[in-house]
Amino acid sequence: MPAKNVEVNRASLGHRVGYALRHPRRVPRYLKRSARDTWLRLRWPDHVGYYRVVMRSDTRADPDAAVGSLSRERWLALGAMQFDYLHGHGLRPGHRMLEIGCGNLRAGWRFIEYLDPGHYHGIDISPDILIAAQDTLERQGLQDRLPTLTPVRDLTLRFLPTAHFDVIHAHSVFSHSPLSVIEECLAHVGRVLALDGWFDFTFDRTEGAEHQVLREDFYYRTETLVALAAKHGLAARFMDDWEELPHGQSKIRVTHATSGAAHGTSGTAER
Ligand SMILES: C[S@@+](CC[C@H](N)C(=O)[O-])C[C@H]1O[C@@H](n2cnc3c(N)ncnc32)[C@H](O)[C@@H]1O
Repeated sequence: MPAKNVEVNRASLGHRVGYALRHPRRVPRYLKRSARDTWLRLRWPDHVGYYRVVMRSDTRADPDAAVGSLSRERWLALGAMQFDYLHGHGLRPGHRMLEIGCGNLRAGWRFIEYLDPGHYHGIDISPDILIAAQDTLERQGLQDRLPTLTPVRDLTLRFLPTAHFDVIHAHSVFSHSPLSVIEECLAHVGRVLALDGWFDFTFDRTEGAEHQVLREDFYYRTETLVALAAKHGLAARFMDDWEELPHGQSKIRVTHATSGAAHGTSGTAER
């Protein structure tokens, strides 16, 4: 299992020069991406608008690569990892699930297949990746499971019902989000989360200075995100067992501070 590299600052000149020397063949691709991202940032100064056009461009080239998988085999494996983890933590068919940043349903199709019909709701800022998600639904023959897929402009979740979702899941979304976007989510997610529900998200963890690369990848300290959740009345804890899996990001679980799940006494959250 590759160890997570939580010390390195990927934005530093030293790291970038060292990386270029170690991987010279990747330099042209990095420069091309960097030029494209600079141009897009100038045209779409707000983060969500910018990231939406990054996703449009990436999805047109390859939807699987747009969500971070360079082969179909990896796409399937990453989806299975997410599903198996939540299943091992007590996901049940009767649960109602919200997936934030569902992409082209890399994990979503597995949740849709497993949950009772109508119990899965995926949201994403990218209409293009949601159209690719429809392709996934068709390919997997899941039309009768009646999932809902909704494009969103922000993470206020204002159109969703109160205390409705038992499980909320965001994989590899906050790793692409500035703190203001994460805070917007944490400020509103408690309203839609059922009392004994839980919200898992992954993030790119650093134990050094927080930093970002091309405004595409953001690195946070665990305590920053735990404190942000507390500011909005939520309990958050680092998921040690996720660290054992071969994945570069870390995971935090958020619950209502007063719920059984927060104290590890819930029947559903901690199995
Ligand atoms: C790396 S992909 C991961 C997709 C999916 N979670 C998976 O594991 O396959 C990140 C997804 O999050 C979406 N996204 C990024 N920022 C978002 C935001 N603020 N709100 C909702 N979706 C967002 C992107 O459009 C993209 O589909």
